Amino acid sequence: MDTESFDAIAKLAYQESGLQLAVEKTSMIQSRLRHRLKILDLESFSQYSAYVCSEKGLAERRHMISALTTNVSHFFREKHHFDILETQARTTLLPKLRSGGAVRIWSAGCSNGQEALSIAITLLEIAPDIGDMNLKILGTDIDSNVVDFAKTARYPERLTSGIPPGLVSKYFGAIDTESERVYLAKNTVRSLVSFKELNLLSEWPMRQRMDIIFCRNVVIYFDQETQNRLWPRFHRAMPLEGILFLGHSERIADPENVGFFTDGPTTYRPTR
Ligand SMILES: C[S@@+](CC[C@H](N)C(=O)[O-])C[C@H]1O[C@@H](n2cnc3c(N)ncnc32)[C@H](O)[C@@H]1O
Repeated sequence: MDTESFDAIAKLAYQESGLQLAVEKTSMIQSRLRHRLKILDLESFSQYSAYVCSEKGLAERRHMISALTTNVSHFFREKHHFDILETQARTTLLPKLRSGGAVRIWSAGCSNGQEALSIAITLLEIAPDIGDMNLKILGTDIDSNVVDFAKTARYPERLTSGIPPGLVSKYFGAIDTESERVYLAKNTVRSLVSFKELNLLSEWPMRQRMDIIFCRNVVIYFDQETQNRLWPRFHRAMPLEGILFLGHSERIADPENVGFFTDGPTTYRPTR
């Protein structure tokens, strides 16, 4: 890929999604986009960059972003966050739900849904009747492919490795296909969770505040400026007793300045 095409694609990816493409990753970016060139019957990256940056390439931009995002996720990734969630559920969320209140939990940058389902299972483990209460877990991602995948709630066996053994049969039904065994989340889990496409840099249509926000392993792909714009928005989106979880290598640079304090490993609570 020539420098001009790289620059045009990197600029567009940044504008559209906040993704920062490093020039050292050019070969990885090329291999992720090659499939798009094939589908569009284009011969070079300069043709592709011209097309995707043009008016005609508007629809292609979503495919480009989808190809460029890193979607790796696991069930119960960074288990300590689910332990904190469990404590918060016992002390704050369940009393609120049991007294008729609403609880909203957001997995922002949910990839293929494993994080949102892990949240649902954590809560079901301590309150099997939680489906009768006013709880909603929302998973959102910019990448429509992962959102579509998450909606199916079907996971090939290799993607289920983080689920504690006893919980697999409790919350998933096994289906043997010709090529592999897949696990379909049961209704008790699925009914708590919904998935939608959402770019974190755009407007957020959610009306209600989010008691818990998981935004893990997402902002690592953003520059400091984009991250700094996001923190006050998360702050406004949650109540005083809310919690924001980031990924293990992500930090709010100056938490006090944006209304948070650090309350555990990459765990933030509002100060005001
Ligand atoms: C590495 S995955 C993290 C998944 C999950 N949160 C976890 O920690 O396992 C990062 C996800 O962030 C999404 N993402 C990247 N930029 C985004 C944006 N601007 N708005 C919403 N999602 C975004 C990607 O599509 C990807 O699915």
